[in-house]
Amino acid sequence: MPIDLNPVDKAKFVAAKRATQYVQSGMKVGLGTGSTAAWLVKCLGEMVRNEGLKIKGVPTSSRTAALAREVGIEVISLDEAKWLDVTIDGADEFDPYLNLIKGGGGAHLQEKIVATASDQMVVITDASKSVEMLGAFPLPLEVIPFGWQTTKTIVEEALIGMDVMGRDVTLRMNGDAPYITDEGNHILDLHLKRIGNARQLSLVMNQIPGVVENGLFIDICDAVVIGYGDGRVEVRDINAGSVEETKFDFLGEDNIFGKVGD
Ligand code: A5P
Repeated sequence: MPIDLNPVDKAKFVAAKRATQYVQSGMKVGLGTGSTAAWLVKCLGEMVRNEGLKIKGVPTSSRTAALAREVGIEVISLDEAKWLDVTIDGADEFDPYLNLIKGGGGAHLQEKIVATASDQMVVITDASKSVEMLGAFPLPLEVIPFGWQTTKTIVEEALIGMDVMGRDVTLRMNGDAPYITDEGNHILDLHLKRIGNARQLSLVMNQIPGVVENGLFIDICDAVVIGYGDGRVEVRDINAGSVEETKFDFLGEDNIFGKVGD
C-alpha cells in the first residue's frame, strides 16, 4: 500500500486499524460496507494471514463478502452465525448520542440486521461524519420496487407531520436506472437537512407499507472510533462514557501501514 495516502484515507485507515483491537481469535465478526469498512476488512485479512487470527466474518453486502474472501477471511452467513461478538462498520453521520445515519452505500438493511444481532457495534469513521443533529446527509429508505411511487407519495405525506427541515424525496439512481440493493429493492433518499426527533421518524417510516428499513441506527452503536489524517484516533464509548485518544506513528520505520492493501 502506498504511504502517500490522502488525509481522509489516512484517517479511515487509522480508525480501522484501532478498531481491530475489538477483535480476538474465536470471534464472529460483522463486517460493514463502505470505504472505511473496506480498510477494516483488509486489516483483519492481514491479521488472519500473518498473525494467526481466527475469525468468522458475516459480511453486510455482496461487495464486502467478495473482499473478505479475497483477503482470506472465512465468510459465513448470519443464519450460520446466529449471533455475533462485534460488528464494525462505517457511518454517514453520527451524533453526540452515537445515533447514526447509514446507507449511503445502499447496504443499511443488511447492516442494521447484522449490527442488531451483535453484542457490540463499533463505528469507524473520519471526523467529517460528526454532527450535532442528524439529517444533513440524506436519509436512505429501502423500499420494495412494487408500487414504489405510491410508497414515495405516502412517505412525503408522512413527512409533513415530522420535525424535519426539508422534505424532498428522490429515487436513488445508478446511471439511467434505479439503484438496486442486494435484496433487489430500491432506495429513496430523504433530504431532510435536520431531523428533530430521529426515534419518532424511524418508527413512522418503518410503519409505511413498502418501506423495508430506514438508515437511522438508534441505540445500536456502542462506540465510535474517529481517525484523523495525522494519525490521531479518538474513541467515544457510549457505555463507558469515555473519550480516549491515541496516535499512530505511520511515518516511523515500522509504520502501521505495513503491507495492508498491497
Ligand atoms: C453503506 O451502506 C453505508 O452505511 C456505509 O457504512 C457508509 O456510507 C459509510 O461509508 P464510507 O466509509 O465509505 O464513508
